[in-house]
Amino acid sequence: MKRQENFKNQVRSIYKVLVVSLIMVFLIGILGIIYMVSPSSFSFKSDRPDTKMITVTEEEDDWDKVENGVHLRTGLKEADGLMAVVNNCTNCHSAQLVIQNRMSRERWVETIRWMQETQNLWDLGNNEEVILDYLVTNYPLLKKGRRENLTDIEWYTLNE
Ligand code: HEC
Repeated sequence: MKRQENFKNQVRSIYKVLVVSLIMVFLIGILGIIYMVSPSSFSFKSDRPDTKMITVTEEEDDWDKVENGVHLRTGLKEADGLMAVVNNCTNCHSAQLVIQNRMSRERWVETIRWMQETQNLWDLGNNEEVILDYLVTNYPLLKKGRRENLTDIEWYTLNE
């Protein structure tokens, strides 16, 4: 009888250990998932600047940096309406698609309507005029050929 009691107690304690470890594995799993989804919720250093926070602010400063008249992040020219174009025209595709396409104002309006009808482009409101002005001013139709003729070339002779 005593031995059976002992055995029961042992089984019970093993069972308890198992349940506790299962709960722990479960909790660690949940913490792991939370960490994967947002690692920042595990940093408790928000009250003092650490290196991570400094790099984030630097990135934010660089985010809309303009150098030599070019918006670095997108390659668009700096001019009136730049940010309207950056904010409305670089979300779905690269700004290169905008830069490469030189169109008249009418073609730009058509392109915007086409994107609005088929690609979920939102209503641009007052920004539409600003964007159109920016595009036709800074990326006008090229009347010349693909490129201007080369000048100032230093020709060299091929030696056999
Ligand atoms: C909601 C998403 C979205 C936004 C915002 C957007 N476009 Fe587009 N646009 C597209 C899609 C999708 C295509 C087709 C891309 C492709 O063919 O690879 C496209 C294509 C283009 C093209 C190429 C058209 C052609 O004939 O090949 C140009 C130029 C263009 N967009 C300019 C703009 C301009 C300017 C803006 C800002 C007013 C803008 N896009 C904003 C989705 C968008």
